[in-house]
Amino acid sequence: MALTRILIAGGLLLCLYTLCSSTATAEPSFLVTFPAQMRSASEAKLCASLQSPNETLHMSIYLTTGDEKKMLHQETSDTDFHRCVHFQAPSVNKDSVQSIKVEVQGRTSHWTSESRVKFRPKPDPVTFIQTDKPIYSPGQTVHFRVVTMDTEFIPLQQKYSLVTLQVCT
Ligand SMILES: *[C@@H]1O[C@H](CO)[C@@H](O)[C@H](O)[C@H]1NC(C)=O
Repeated sequence: MALTRILIAGGLLLCLYTLCSSTATAEPSFLVTFPAQMRSASEAKLCASLQSPNETLHMSIYLTTGDEKKMLHQETSDTDFHRCVHFQAPSVNKDSVQSIKVEVQGRTSHWTSESRVKFRPKPDPVTFIQTDKPIYSPGQTVHFRVVTMDTEFIPLQQKYSLVTLQVCT
């Protein structure tokens, strides 16, 4: 989970270059960061920043898979910004590799950058069953509780419609 993807474009490399040659006119640049892996249907976060725009720039961030394209964030600005936004990760039932694509467009300039992101299905929940005794005699009442939790030990709200007991002889 510690892996973070970083999409950089625009003048960042040029900035490093111009710093070396000490002609410090800042070039426009953008930076988008997000986790390389996310859990299915979880609330996910990405951060975007724009630096030193030299004209009004329109930034669009999409999640793409096949020919589906889902807008995650868009912003138009002629000044620097740094913004983090939340979005709902898609629901997947097996590992799914998709792409996050950034487009920055101005009247005289256009950049795109793309990086992969993996969505992992939710792990199976775990169920604990507790009874008041280890062994029962015929006719005794069985008291029990059943708790189902996700992998972060948060109890799930779902209900079991039927619980059956089997007698071992
Ligand atoms: C802004 O900067 C980009 C990249 O350096 C350049 O291609 C573009 O022509 C510039 N636009 C203006 C309006 O100065």
